[in-house]
Amino acid sequence: MILVTGAGGQIGSDLVEALRERCGEDDVLATDLTSPGGEGPGEALDVTDRPGLRKLVERRGVETVYHLAGLLSAVGEKHPDRCWEVNVNGLRNVLELAQSHGLRVFWPSSIAVFGPYTPRRLTPQVTVEDPRTMYGITKVTGELLCDYYARKLGVDVRSLRLPGIISYTTPPGGGTTDYAVEMFYAALRDEAYTCFVRPETRLPMMYMPDTLRAILLLMDADAADLHVHSSYNITGLSFSAEELAAAIRERRPSFTVRYEPDFRQAIADTWPTQIDDSHARADWGWRPAYDLDAIVDDMLAKLGARLGANAKTSPSAPKTLVQP
Ligand code: SER
Repeated sequence: MILVTGAGGQIGSDLVEALRERCGEDDVLATDLTSPGGEGPGEALDVTDRPGLRKLVERRGVETVYHLAGLLSAVGEKHPDRCWEVNVNGLRNVLELAQSHGLRVFWPSSIAVFGPYTPRRLTPQVTVEDPRTMYGITKVTGELLCDYYARKLGVDVRSLRLPGIISYTTPPGGGTTDYAVEMFYAALRDEAYTCFVRPETRLPMMYMPDTLRAILLLMDADAADLHVHSSYNITGLSFSAEELAAAIRERRPSFTVRYEPDFRQAIADTWPTQIDDSHARADWGWRPAYDLDAIVDDMLAKLGARLGANAKTSPSAPKTLVQP
């Protein structure tokens, strides 16, 4: 059985579907603070509850965990205690069980591990990690835990430093890169968008199909080929907020954006603009497939179809606060 935590979130909802297509509906257990529902098996799970997690792993015969439950960067600044509790203690609970029960683990780290003293362009795999957010601090801590459990305790845990993810199934919940998704919702609803970072803000991003392919490629890789046990740098593409707005405007000429930076600008300013993923390319053959035009075309088509069917879906109303 494959366990997905945070399955109601942005990545979780799409990953559960991809895993079920691959392995069969009954072999993927979707969990979140409230049971995610849907077709296959689902349960409520709080990852900070170690005995509850252990019982579930034993009862369901879990062998692999995609541990996605966590608070993102902006919401983490508002709830720092909860951010530490879920992101660090939740991961440690999963790693402890992985060690005692021989589980394989995937866990997402983030570009948020970097900070103002990190080189911002072509950020190397091994470099300064001086995050200025509680979220970033939990991700650095998580990477150190993964490295420790892998090297010292022999746990098979694999990780990616994910950038901002663009997708149309479930909106992200409380990240600094959320504007890249919110712009599409506004454009498709013929609404003006107020962007919370400046137009020239350039951050690493990735389209969901590339993200899912990267996660599965990494998990399929031969353990002997993997030399990074903290978390792999990985890239999709980088663009500024205004470049994205312009690409959308080319297809929807009436789309307008006003820029009103808030506290998230200061977070974005400490993150890299583009990171070097040569280790991921060399160790497990990573290559992104989607450029900006391909993402914008696909998002407008797929999200447009979704919003046509369910106009009430809102990117600013995540289903759960703490497991986005
Ligand atoms: N997308 C995430 C965030 O903005 C980065 O890991 O918090």
